[in-house]
Amino acid sequence: MKNTVVTFRAAKGQDKLVVLTAYDYSTARVMDAAGVNALLVGDSLGMVMLGHDDTLSVTMDDMIRHCAAVARAAEQALVICDMPYMSYHTSVDEAVRNAGRLVCEGHAQAVKLEGGAEFCDVVKALVRASIPVMGHLGLTPQSVNAFGGFKMQGKTPSAAQKLLDDARALQDAGAFAVVLECVPAALAARVTKELAIPVIGIGAGAECDGQVLVWQDMTGLNTRPLPRFVKYFGSVDKALRDAIEGYTREVRAGAFPGEEHCYPLPEGMEKTIKK
Ligand code: KIV
Ligand code: NA
Repeated sequence: MKNTVVTFRAAKGQDKLVVLTAYDYSTARVMDAAGVNALLVGDSLGMVMLGHDDTLSVTMDDMIRHCAAVARAAEQALVICDMPYMSYHTSVDEAVRNAGRLVCEGHAQAVKLEGGAEFCDVVKALVRASIPVMGHLGLTPQSVNAFGGFKMQGKTPSAAQKLLDDARALQDAGAFAVVLECVPAALAARVTKELAIPVIGIGAGAECDGQVLVWQDMTGLNTRPLPRFVKYFGSVDKALRDAIEGYTREVRAGAFPGEEHCYPLPEGMEKTIKK
């Protein structure tokens, strides 16, 4: 079944939504075939794909290139692309133009941006331009410097109230879904119950309408210290390392390539190459 923002919204209260990050064609094909509902081209690519310490230096061109690769692989999954830092902060006009590029050049079917009530003018303008918007609240990594690090959010009564208000504001502005990152599970459960749109959690407990993870985190390919909310689902790191070590061993031993990997010389050429 082809996932769209319409099927996404309709899943609320029916089926749990499965979202995974994706950044390139070959891995996105595997995820799409495995049946995830949405592929999120996250600006986390700055960290897991490019090796930066945060997401702040990710550019529009980075997002467009990776999103287009993922979109070419996605047959079933909804393709959602993050708006990178500073692509929607300076003006509503610039935000619309940049989101438009993610759709027109990156072939995103929806965009995601970080922030609540203070960005609802942007959300409304994007929705007016027929660009579906996913919100992102809680630990919003683009605010790492303002937060003083990657830390759990929603820890005080006023912060919890602001989160609830922001979630409602995003819904009222027309967002089709909201990501909640790294907040107490009970608070996320409350937001999930409160909203009519799906709440996708990451480090936000089991009561959310769906979950999202960074794929390198859940397969052992991210070598940084992982937050509590990540679960290890399979050792892609080990499988990859085993394959590469096998290749290295066989090349050094002269065992690869074998006869079966070599092209035979066309008939009648023996004389030409023999000196
Ligand atoms: O960039 C990203 O990967 C994200 C998800 C973790 C929600 O924003
Ligand atoms: Na992101």
